[in-house]
Amino acid sequence: MAVNRETLDTLLEENRIFYPDKEFVARANVNDRAIYDEARADTQGFWAKQAENLDWFQKWDRVLDWDNPPFAKWFVNGKINACYNCVDRHVLTSRRTKPAIIFEGEPGDIRTLTYEELQREVMRFANVLKGLGVSRGDRVAIYMPMIPELAIAMLACARLGAPHSIVFGGFSPESLRDRINDAAAKLLITADGGWRRGKIVPLKHNADDAVAECPSIESVVVVRRTGQEVPMIEGRDYWYHELMERAAAECPCEETDSEDMLFILYTSGTTGKPKGVVHTTGGYLVGTSTTHRIIFDHKEDDIYWCTADIGWITGHSYVIYGPLANGATTLMFEGAPDWPQQDRFWDIIERHKVTVFYTAPTAIRAFMKWGRKWPEQHDLSSLRLLGTVGEPINPEAWIWYYKNIGGGRCPIVDTWWQTETGQIMISPLPGITPLKPGSATVPFPGINIDVVDKQGNSVELGKGGYLVIKEPWPAMLRTIYGDDQRFIDQYWSHFGDRWWYFAGDGVRRDYDNYHWILGRVDDVINVSGHRLSTMEVESALVDHQAVAEAAVIGKSHEIKGQAISAFVTLKEHVWQEIRNGDMDRKELQKALKAHVVKKIGAIARPEDVFFTAELPKTRSGKIMRRLLRDVAEGRALGDTTTLADPAVIAKLKAQYEGKES
Ligand code: WT7
Repeated sequence: MAVNRETLDTLLEENRIFYPDKEFVARANVNDRAIYDEARADTQGFWAKQAENLDWFQKWDRVLDWDNPPFAKWFVNGKINACYNCVDRHVLTSRRTKPAIIFEGEPGDIRTLTYEELQREVMRFANVLKGLGVSRGDRVAIYMPMIPELAIAMLACARLGAPHSIVFGGFSPESLRDRINDAAAKLLITADGGWRRGKIVPLKHNADDAVAECPSIESVVVVRRTGQEVPMIEGRDYWYHELMERAAAECPCEETDSEDMLFILYTSGTTGKPKGVVHTTGGYLVGTSTTHRIIFDHKEDDIYWCTADIGWITGHSYVIYGPLANGATTLMFEGAPDWPQQDRFWDIIERHKVTVFYTAPTAIRAFMKWGRKWPEQHDLSSLRLLGTVGEPINPEAWIWYYKNIGGGRCPIVDTWWQTETGQIMISPLPGITPLKPGSATVPFPGINIDVVDKQGNSVELGKGGYLVIKEPWPAMLRTIYGDDQRFIDQYWSHFGDRWWYFAGDGVRRDYDNYHWILGRVDDVINVSGHRLSTMEVESALVDHQAVAEAAVIGKSHEIKGQAISAFVTLKEHVWQEIRNGDMDRKELQKALKAHVVKKIGAIARPEDVFFTAELPKTRSGKIMRRLLRDVAEGRALGDTTTLADPAVIAKLKAQYEGKES
């Protein structure tokens, strides 16, 4: 094999090990390896001990009920309220006047909410919700920018025991509509708009389009953020600030059950239909607060910043619930990292004296590209710990992050987990684990992960296989909303009657038992740390009048990790028009990209669209995406023996390489 200088460097760096610094170890929340043995010896006891850090109205009488797998119950019959644990209990302590949320808007507006102020806002808004008929068990949809009212809204829902369903503000009206309808939400909370690189994201406008086709929605609450004119429908739409003025100040917390639904969060699966991942209350809070405390080594005076949008699971677990349950100061930022300049993040870290910083590899690769000069202009000495999540981090990016952001003194926690796991599952403990750039290292204490082959046999060290979780964990998803069967089929049916959770990721375990995530093994693409299903994008393409058939794959991308490549077969008359010159090929490619954005959202925009007369299929008619991946990556074709017509792929490859399309 020819090894160029670059890959050689990577190989060398992969072998580098970074040991925790003595001073960091001395101060670390956990610095004794015994935690792993303790948790292994008595896993339920370990989680029960962690649960003692939360306030329960009534203690559980059983830690785990796994009598009816895969339906787990954690902290059975415990009564607990998530909002009480994230807000009220801190108001009773010296944290009363501590900032709970530091908010910075894209235009530069800053707002700090102490725990006491947060409680005041949340109680009022909970009364607003009640006044609009929301009660325990009702689903509330939220479609908002990253502003404090988003945190207030979700905590108010938790206070009442009304599950929230947050839809990322970058999703299209149609995506919002489908999610609202799947959950039959009663109320929608949105904003007039949000700021994104100096422009307004028209949230209310999108919400109106969605709600027109959502029979379950009774009212829409609108936060004024950008201030532009938006139509308000009499009897359905209400301004947040007007309702808040009239709302009563006091509102008690519901004594919700440990297993009451806290929220639904939609994610992409292998089919086109989004999955409503259901998380409940007690176990989720135990899982997220424990991992936040131990992995991010939470200290009372930390200024903690997780850059994820709350519309994703990372935002739910590590902007809001985990940190606030621990009484942390959590920073919320509305905007983009390159607005107004490419140093916005470093500027924020310097001004707010951020100590712990958690972001995604895709962002780090963008920072690398923009260059060292941006962080160099700022004092980043407040930082003491860094984290990453969302996709494998390439060792070069790890080293860059370590040197240029962490100043060579901050451990990096590379955390593997999923929307479904709710909490971090594989990660270093910063006071214990030697770090290897590119590896998420080892399972968290109390988490039983294995790497197995198709038959379920553990693979030897040094080999790759499927990532499975062999025992339940507190923040695990409980089901897919309204679809228990899909929950069973998707996650629990891969290894016969052994109730193992199948994560959908491939992983290699090295000789030190370190885990190297290899990526998805199913038809799921990871774009910028977010999952998209190939099917979802294909349905959006086929929805366009010019398209006969489409196949979508993930292709390596310098910044995004993976980018979407679409292979499209056009309807015969469209081919004709192109041949006659009545239609422009490039214009059509543009139109198809725009169509996907309209159907799903900007994250799903294909990087390239390639027209082909035929797609490679098996004799039974299944599209072989694997071969399309080989073509797109410029690799030699893999096994083609199952193809109905091998000539199709050969021709396609030649055309693609000549970029005839
Ligand atoms: C998928 C989950 C929950 C975090 C945000 C994404 C990939 C996540 C890592 C990591 C390698 C990672 C996996 C996983 N992934 N973290 N540290 N190293 N891969 O949440 O949208 O539910 O996606 O992201 O493929 O299955 P998600």
